[in-house]
Amino acid sequence: MKQFYLTTPLYYPNARPHVGSAYTTIVCDVIARYKRMCGYDVAFLTGTDEHGEKLERAAVAAGLSPRDFVAEKRQLFIELWKKLGIEYSHFVYTDQADHTISVQRMLRRALEYEPSAIYKSRYEGRYCVSDERYISDGAEPANCDICGRPAELISEENYFFRLSAFQDRLLELYEKHPEFVQPDFRRNEVLSFVKGGLRDISVSRRRIKWGIPWPDDPEQVFYVWYDALTGYLTGLGYAQGENGSAEFQKYWRNDSEGEVVHMIGKDILRFHAVYWPAFLMAARMPLPRSVFAHGWIYYEQAKMSKSVGNVVYPEPIIDALDSFGAPGNDALRYYLLRESPFGQDTSFSYDSLIQRFNSDLANDLGNLASRTVAMINRYFGGEVPHPRRELTDTEEMLRSGFFGELKRDGDITIAARPGLISDCRSFFDTLMLDTAVGLVWHLISEINKYLNEKEPWKLAESGREEDRALLTLVLYTAADLIRTITILLYPIIPVSSKRLWKQLGCSGDLADQRLLDLRWEALEPGTQVDKAEPIFPRLDKAAALAKLEELAERDREHDKPKEKKSMESESVKSPSAESRGPSPAAPAPSPQSPAPDAAAGAPKISIEDFAKVEMRVGQIQTAEPVAGAQKLLKLTVDIGSEVRQVVAGIAEHYKPEQLVGMKVVVVTNLQPRKLRGVESNGMIVAASVGPEGKPVLVTFKEEVEVGAKLK
Ligand code: MSP
Repeated sequence: MKQFYLTTPLYYPNARPHVGSAYTTIVCDVIARYKRMCGYDVAFLTGTDEHGEKLERAAVAAGLSPRDFVAEKRQLFIELWKKLGIEYSHFVYTDQADHTISVQRMLRRALEYEPSAIYKSRYEGRYCVSDERYISDGAEPANCDICGRPAELISEENYFFRLSAFQDRLLELYEKHPEFVQPDFRRNEVLSFVKGGLRDISVSRRRIKWGIPWPDDPEQVFYVWYDALTGYLTGLGYAQGENGSAEFQKYWRNDSEGEVVHMIGKDILRFHAVYWPAFLMAARMPLPRSVFAHGWIYYEQAKMSKSVGNVVYPEPIIDALDSFGAPGNDALRYYLLRESPFGQDTSFSYDSLIQRFNSDLANDLGNLASRTVAMINRYFGGEVPHPRRELTDTEEMLRSGFFGELKRDGDITIAARPGLISDCRSFFDTLMLDTAVGLVWHLISEINKYLNEKEPWKLAESGREEDRALLTLVLYTAADLIRTITILLYPIIPVSSKRLWKQLGCSGDLADQRLLDLRWEALEPGTQVDKAEPIFPRLDKAAALAKLEELAERDREHDKPKEKKSMESESVKSPSAESRGPSPAAPAPSPQSPAPDAAAGAPKISIEDFAKVEMRVGQIQTAEPVAGAQKLLKLTVDIGSEVRQVVAGIAEHYKPEQLVGMKVVVVTNLQPRKLRGVESNGMIVAASVGPEGKPVLVTFKEEVEVGAKLK
């Protein structure tokens, strides 16, 4: 049996996963199920990437130790994968004890096989904490080219990886194995990046503690990407024994017996398609067969992301649809797979989710299944009929369309033409997932068309023997083909296809069916079908939308106490002002707002501590009330490099129209947080006046440039 090792990225557990972050995991679950049905021995890994500055800071902001913080957040991922029915076989988290051994082992191998690959030097340049990447070797550019956020200036002694020495080897890899980077247009991006010349990269950090210690140099920790990528090995047991566990040997290979595929989002392609193969080459380890970079899920015109504040969570979607008796989980999977070409960006909307459900699942598939099963019940007492007559041309064509044509050549039977099922498998194999799913729906519409043409309900009423015989053939053919479709549907919509399988009275576990063994007349005549209960009840759009909104709102409310708690714990548990930066002036009346006279007794801080707080001139672009929150206003503020959404507790003292155009001071490097369910990414500085703490915004008398830093 061939091995297939599939991985999702290891997610940063800095926040709760949303639909955008769940996307890769759902896609991988579809592929893993498909591969198992093709007879592969599949290992499917997911997990969390728990080190680095970003998480260290998030932990400090939450008043927890990094270890406790990531352990708590990791659980949110595990719970969501459970709710989504993700059948992963391995979960790795980079704070697990044996990961240190893996990472250090990788490095030791590099030092052994290619000693010149690692050297010590001074790093001076900008580092983007949000994306955990070095963006320049000097002070310019100041902003990250991926997320647009201001990057930090760093100067320290680090260990470097001589990436430049791998340029030719990487180009040879892309040349010889075009499948290494997929889709093709991403491969071209990688090629031109590498052809443009590779610079060495710093692979250790001195300033931070939350990471894997560098062997023999405890002052340094590994660069988080070197650490995280190695997680793909740790999850299989790379740290065990001399050369990894038996499982590691079995799955980490790229030969005729097995392959490794990394599924990722396009933003992390460079790490996977350039750094990772180079790290592996240096350590003389097998490379993955391919890295597939998919596009982003957009919502409200921007990449769905916690820091933008435009996230949609899967749980309320599933619960809302489930409450109408519709399979929420499958509906979401189907929608995400089908909506746009796999690999490209796609926009999420509740509207199109419901639209897709009603037209494709309820109408096309649901109607086909329920009318066929209902007719078998009505006309044949629930028993799949024996076809009592020869096939007509229609059935011949339908079957050969599905299964292909066979020809006899002397004693040998050969496939004269592959059928649509085999095309569908090819699309799955080449990860053209939307096309594969679209083709399954084409097959569904072919069976629907067949029933509409043959009108079995009329045949049943005619009372003529020949019509009755034709009826047996038509219903048998339809039921037999629906059985085949159900097998193809399993990786895509596992819950509903199992219900369909049961409704058809099929025996055996659906997941154990083999896609290479599909054939016609696999359904036993005489099989007893179940009642034709609707699996995909049609949704009333207005009612479904209202429910989706209601549960999303309730979900936000439910999140709130936790957030409030973490704010409270921030003010109680945070070890010192140093770790949080100075208390910012009152943005929203919340537990962390300083008391009016707090400044008098505030502990002294050093200039370095003060410098940790980044403040910029921002210009308010829009201002609107936050539903259900009297004191809050939702603002969009241009801070020069980007436009941020900030929630401020000033609604009782400022009118929205008064604020638009006003230049204010924004604390820009605060951890984003939610206020009344609305994301706030930054803080507007205000004086807190009088016993009530009335906020008075800090602004400028002279003309100042938007984005200018305050110091
Ligand atoms: N920790 C790194 C990955 C290390 S892999 C060894 C990381 N984590 S992440 O949590 O920021 O992102 C994980 C994945 O989620 C990325 O592939 C990213 O593209 C994906 N997505 C996050 N938001 C997304 C959308 N809105 N749409 C699609 N995918 C998105 O990067």
